[in-house]
Amino acid sequence: MNIKILIARLRKLIINDYRVLGALERGMAVHEYVPIETITNYSGLNINEVNFRLSYIHKLELIKRWTGPYVGYYLTFAGYDCLALHALIESDKLDLFGQAIGVGKESDVFDAINPEGDNVAVKIHRLGRTSFRQTKRKRPYSKDKRHISWLYESRLAAKKEFEALNILHDVKLSVPNPIAHNRHIIVMERIEGTPLFLLKELPEKEKILNEILDDIFIAYSKAKLIHGDLSEYNILITPELEIMIIDWPQWIPSDHPNFKFYLKRDISNILKFFQRKYDVYRDENEIFNEFFNI
Ligand SMILES: Nc1ncnc2c1ncn2[C@@H]1O[C@H](COP(=O)(O)OP(=O)(O)OP(=O)(O)O)[C@@H](O)[C@H]1O
Ligand SMILES: [Mg+2]
Repeated sequence: MNIKILIARLRKLIINDYRVLGALERGMAVHEYVPIETITNYSGLNINEVNFRLSYIHKLELIKRWTGPYVGYYLTFAGYDCLALHALIESDKLDLFGQAIGVGKESDVFDAINPEGDNVAVKIHRLGRTSFRQTKRKRPYSKDKRHISWLYESRLAAKKEFEALNILHDVKLSVPNPIAHNRHIIVMERIEGTPLFLLKELPEKEKILNEILDDIFIAYSKAKLIHGDLSEYNILITPELEIMIIDWPQWIPSDHPNFKFYLKRDISNILKFFQRKYDVYRDENEIFNEFFNI
């Protein structure tokens, strides 16, 4: 669902709608399709009100209805978005919403303003929403819980990314300042910058490359973590030519048994990009040695 439509629908919800959505969220930990009795119990509302709210939020496409031996409901991504956005708004972390600023395969990012008037970026993680094969490959939990894998995975990705941003921010690495986190959504400082792969011209290429390598090194040695998906797509360059490394949900701890593999892959993605696009060459092995022989 488009973010503008989502926000318009969110504005129409009242407290009892959130109670029903929250009851569904809880119910989904146990049921694939949550029975009305469970929703009623968890929400603390009477059955008539539950039915009324269910049909209202169903019309808004925040939940889906299933009819089998009984009638059950489950949350859509839009419903889950409403729960998380509502919690962030209520806790004064978010106020006005703006435009989409990035739509990836695994997240939607849009800009917003918090009550203090700061520009923030809101990243909504969206994992496991499609491929069954992918779900099967990566799932650590049982078949029965596959129906909530998207919810669980998206929440976990946001938690991991928020955790990384906090650690990296503490060691003063140039990453967006983390502001808040709820369910599958993180709120962070909005960076004025362009992804590296989109830049037509890059002045001081060698210097920028060195800074990126320094940041990889600081993350690895001080914050003890490795990005794990580093490339020209996940580096923003500000108008002042500062670099900002973004998109950290898949970070790997530096004591991971395969940490060298991930670290080398990150470094080599960057070196290949600089060689291919800017004809700046650095010896991979030399850099690996500098990293590992500290
Ligand atoms: N803090 C931020 N400030 C400004 N723009 C941002 C910020 N975070 C993300 N963006 C924009 O949103 C785009 C997507 O963000 P990000 O790389 O974090 O997610 P993603 O690529 O969709 O995630 P994934 O790789 O998991 O699919 C970025 O390329 C960038 O343009
Ligand atoms: Mg990205």
